[in-house]
Amino acid sequence: MKRFVAMTTVFLLLVFAIAEYRTGSGLPGIEPVLAQDEIKMPETIILGKDSKLGQVKFNHVSHNGGTYSIAGTGPIACIECHHTAQPASELAKLGLKTAWPADRTTTLTLELFNKDPKAAGVAACRSCHAPAGTVPKLMDKIPEMKHESSTAIISLTNQQAMHRNCAGCHTEVAKQNKAQKGPTTMQCTACHKRAG
Ligand code: HEC
Ligand code: HEC
Ligand code: HEC
Ligand code: HEC
Repeated sequence: MKRFVAMTTVFLLLVFAIAEYRTGSGLPGIEPVLAQDEIKMPETIILGKDSKLGQVKFNHVSHNGGTYSIAGTGPIACIECHHTAQPASELAKLGLKTAWPADRTTTLTLELFNKDPKAAGVAACRSCHAPAGTVPKLMDKIPEMKHESSTAIISLTNQQAMHRNCAGCHTEVAKQNKAQKGPTTMQCTACHKRAG
């Protein structure tokens, strides 16, 4: 009988140990590793905090969920904005060339992000499109492109990159639907709001 009790006790201890290990609530002092490294998908992003015209409140969720695509039929693909988050071979088809990380083989999607946020490789726009006169974190200098209709070279600062991406799309959408609420290029203060 003693032996049976002892064996049952050992068995139950094992069961608890495994259960605790699996829930990650286990041994004191050992926190689940994920909590610290977790990359969150932002819901609302305050852009341009130091802009003289005022900050820009950007609803990330309504843009990458819902029906904000130009055709109005579904969400905007992640890579319409996070354009560097696809392989160089895909970029070439779009006339772009910079992938980040440079050797990536995946294309950013919601599924990829949910599976492994770190491996999804999302970099903030500003880490390349830095404000004028500053050096970006991920590149030697602020990216440049040739103007569409002249030989001028455009420096793709934070201002240029965001205006082209954000207001560029809203202008396309407005061509189809005049009542849409996405601020177009000259509607400065529909995007920029001074706090208070
Ligand atoms: C569709 C929204 C939108 C519209 C419309 C818009 N902006 Fe912006 N603007 C932004 C965003 C987003 C940024 C980048 C902020 C950041 O770097 O986080 C920005 C950046 C800027 C900056 C650089 C701020 C800084 O210090 O880095 C200036 C200046 C600016 N905008 C002026 C204007 C003016 C003038 C107009 C109208 C002619 C205008 N914007 C229209 C969204 C908009
Ligand atoms: C309409 C444009 C747009 C779309 C579509 C979009 N994003 Fe973003 N996302 C942004 C902007 C702008 C930021 C802020 C970047 C910054 O601070 O410079 C951002 C930030 C992020 C960040 C935080 C990055 C960081 O380092 O802080 C993650 C993660 C992210 N997006 C993932 C996604 C995923 C996944 C999708 C597709 C399901 C997606 N985004 C679709 C514009 C977009
Ligand atoms: C890793 C660096 C990097 C990141 C991150 C990045 N860009 Fe870019 N971007 C570039 C480079 C470099 C170019 C020039 C084209 C090329 O080399 O592919 C460019 C080009 C652009 C253009 C011009 C494309 C055209 O044909 O008009 C826009 C608009 C733009 N980026 C917006 C954004 C936005 C918005 C974000 C964030 C959601 C972002 N970029 C994130 C490096 C980056
Ligand atoms: C590919 C298209 C596309 C891009 C890129 C895009 N938007 Fe929009 N945006 C929309 C559409 C569509 C709407 C909703 C129009 C409607 O139905 O009223 C919208 C609406 C908005 C609104 C009105 C409030 C809201 O959320 O409905 C703001 C502000 C806005 N966008 C800011 C931005 C900023 C800032 C960026 C760049 C970081 C951006 N958008 C990039 C398509 C786009």
